[in-house]
Amino acid sequence: MTGVATRPIGVFDSGVGGLSVLRALHAELPLEKFFYVADNGHAPYGERDDRHVIVRSHAITRYLVTHQHIKALVVACNTATAAAIASLRRDFATLPIVGIEPALKPATAHSQTRRIGVMATRGTLKSQKFQTLLRSLQTQAQTQTQTRFVLQACDGLADAIEHADTAKIVAACAQYTSAMGRFGMETGSMDTLVLGCTHYAFATDVLRSLVGEGVQFLEGGAPVARQTRRLLEQHGWLAPSADADTEALQHAPTQFATTGDAEVLRGALQSWLHLHAPVQVLAIA
Ligand code: DGL
Repeated sequence: MTGVATRPIGVFDSGVGGLSVLRALHAELPLEKFFYVADNGHAPYGERDDRHVIVRSHAITRYLVTHQHIKALVVACNTATAAAIASLRRDFATLPIVGIEPALKPATAHSQTRRIGVMATRGTLKSQKFQTLLRSLQTQAQTQTQTRFVLQACDGLADAIEHADTAKIVAACAQYTSAMGRFGMETGSMDTLVLGCTHYAFATDVLRSLVGEGVQFLEGGAPVARQTRRLLEQHGWLAPSADADTEALQHAPTQFATTGDAEVLRGALQSWLHLHAPVQVLAIA
């Protein structure tokens, strides 16, 4: 099955947020080729209706399957996972698909104060998938009595991160963390903060300065990367390493495409992944 194994893995997000997941994928799977699509031209997803997110997710997946011949797909967007992963799995039944969801479960294991903050898009928080996850944790015997999740929809934050607008990022983070309540290690405070949107990983410095050093941040990139490895192993589709020379090992190529402004993605690649990579502009319909 070497033919399949040498194909790329598709990764998409509404924009640059999925780069936080790609960073984890690069670390976990350095031999793999990736094709990353930032759907900047149709972002943000989190404040649009489900229909929009589903249509975009299917169009991008179709493009990646048909034109890039991907062997697996990573939906590097909480909002798209919540809205579209079930229908993607139905329509692309032979394609291994990994999604991302807010790390509520690990958060319950981490939190000492039993009070957990969750920042995510409006779309993710109101989705059935998220509500089901929340209910399942709240009704588990060991958590039902004490754990409280403080949910915060962060309108505008992903968009500010998308455009690297520092003033807006700081203002939005300050507004939302203060609306959530008290952070810290003492009883009644939130000692754990779930970053339930892949964009927010790029605001951790700002958030850290607002909530304090001790608060534990949880994002989903590393578990997604491990799950991608597991799925590829199960299929026998991990990229072959036997004949890879050292050069290839260090630089398994990733291709980048956007449906919007190439400069936005190029800038994010430089700031966050320290990559100077070419960006293709695609009209994916
Ligand atoms: N990065 C996306 C997520 O993880 C959402 C950003 C957007 O609203 O487009 O939910």
